Amino acid sequence: MNIAIVTGASSGMGKEFALQIPHLYKNLDELWVIARRTGRLKELQQEIHIPLRIFDGDLQRDYIFEKIERELSRNEANIRMLVNTAGYGKIGVISELDTKEQCGMVDLNCNALTRMTCVCLPYMRKGSRIIQLASAAAFCPQPGFAVYAASKAYVLSFSHALEKEVRKKGISVTAVCPGPVRTEFFDRAGSLVSGEKEALCADARDVVKQALIDSVHGRSMSVYGASMKASRILSKILPDSLLAWAMMKINHI
Ligand SMILES: NC(=O)c1ccc[n+]([C@@H]2O[C@H](COP(=O)([O-])OP(=O)(O)OC[C@H]3O[C@@H](n4cnc5c(N)ncnc54)[C@H](OP(=O)(O)O)[C@@H]3O)[C@@H](O)[C@H]2O)c1
Repeated sequence: MNIAIVTGASSGMGKEFALQIPHLYKNLDELWVIARRTGRLKELQQEIHIPLRIFDGDLQRDYIFEKIERELSRNEANIRMLVNTAGYGKIGVISELDTKEQCGMVDLNCNALTRMTCVCLPYMRKGSRIIQLASAAAFCPQPGFAVYAASKAYVLSFSHALEKEVRKKGISVTAVCPGPVRTEFFDRAGSLVSGEKEALCADARDVVKQALIDSVHGRSMSVYGASMKASRILSKILPDSLLAWAMMKINHI
């Protein structure tokens, strides 16, 4: 059975991937979507012309991975594309944020993404693609967004290393690194501090379209927009301590 899997498909960029992937793959038998809000996932079926299999569950718990593993094996799945989108951020200084929320970020953004990747890899073959949602926040340490930026630096590093490991099997890995994108992300993260950042907000549809194009071309990174491309270049040139200082000023810490 040819399938694509999208985590975090109930809103934002995950939902956009779920909507756009069936246009890219014409021979998919099913699209598997994962998130906690069942109603939102059910609504998706009205907009997608291929069968949707809903896994409503919390990726910070074991049972959902056990269920996915069971279904992959039972259906002799051939995963054409895995998109790990589920994630969240919390804006604020470390000493003032809830500890459970901060550790939860590492749990979902890093652990769950790694576990999903490991669970799916045995079901991928030549031509399969992995897309990992990192962030431009991965480019440098960010006072005021510290744990989130560190969790996304993990995703970026993990994706680059994985890409080298699986390339010989014909599997591609693309780390997506957008700047701010207009989604429900900020309802949970807290509002953007600076007006400049709000002005930089991209449209989820465009970011996802670019990510899929970059994945098809086998690119290891997808960075949307000129300003984020410039940030990437700067982060390669300037020392982390200077970048962290600049981020502290931008985030008004
Ligand atoms: N928006 C931005 O500015 C931005 C920029 C760069 C990178 N990103 C990254 O892009 C990814 C998608 O974010 P988005 O902007 O599309 O935000 P979003 O609209 O808030 O979507 C987050 C998705 O993650 C799912 N999710 C959250 N906790 C979960 C859990 N414990 N188990 C299963 N699913 C869970 C949510 O579904 P349920 O609530 O239904 O579970 C939702 O579908 C994230 O990894 C984020 O870090 C976002």
